[in-house]
Amino acid sequence: MPHLIKHPLALHVITRLREKTTKPAEFRSLCHHLSMLLALEATRDLAMREVAVNTPLEACIGHELARPLVVVPILRAGLGMVEPIVAMFPDVSVGYIGLERDHETAMARNYYCKMPPLAGTRVMVVDPMLATGGSAVQAIDVVKQKGGGEICMLNVVAAPEGVKAIEDAHPDVPIYTCALDRALNDKKYILPGLGDFGDRLYGT
Ligand code: PRP
Ligand code: URA
Repeated sequence: MPHLIKHPLALHVITRLREKTTKPAEFRSLCHHLSMLLALEATRDLAMREVAVNTPLEACIGHELARPLVVVPILRAGLGMVEPIVAMFPDVSVGYIGLERDHETAMARNYYCKMPPLAGTRVMVVDPMLATGGSAVQAIDVVKQKGGGEICMLNVVAAPEGVKAIEDAHPDVPIYTCALDRALNDKKYILPGLGDFGDRLYGT
């Protein structure tokens, strides 16, 4: 089962995101807030190490992140989730994977890939929509081929079909989502969903 973000702010924000009259500027800002909530939840268990720190008053023991973090947006819609995560984790590296669903078949085509070193990292693969799961499964395949790391998947909205696809292909990859929706329609769009995320984010 995916980790469902149940924070009241997430429920409030996703309702505005679903509303069809919400314009791209507000849509981007709502996506920003949800991405922060998702990233916070997905990094709750990050490994830490102790470090010495000197306050103005005395020395004490503090903590720092022990493993490098990587965020991998699935282009194009996943780009909307990168900036808030980079703002929260300044040392994060960013890998890119370009996947586009064919409008007729809903199969994803890989058109771009550029990854930082992945060995020993925590990798957050981010894509707002998990529909059939084809894009996510392919992206996780690529991340594993490029050296793995400890991978998790962050989605704003997930359909049961997509969750099952990841759980079948990559049972080691936890899924974090703000909404688990009902089903897919015959064009493989999520119901109730919010329409085409990339188009709404970029006004295309
Ligand atoms: C959307 C979305 C996911 C994918 C999900 O991208 O951002 O990447 O569809 O569908 P799936 O789970 O059935 O693979 P799209 O292909 O529309 O490209 P875009 O991000 O460029 O809009
Ligand atoms: N991609 C989207 O942007 N929306 C959906 O509902 C399904 C895939």
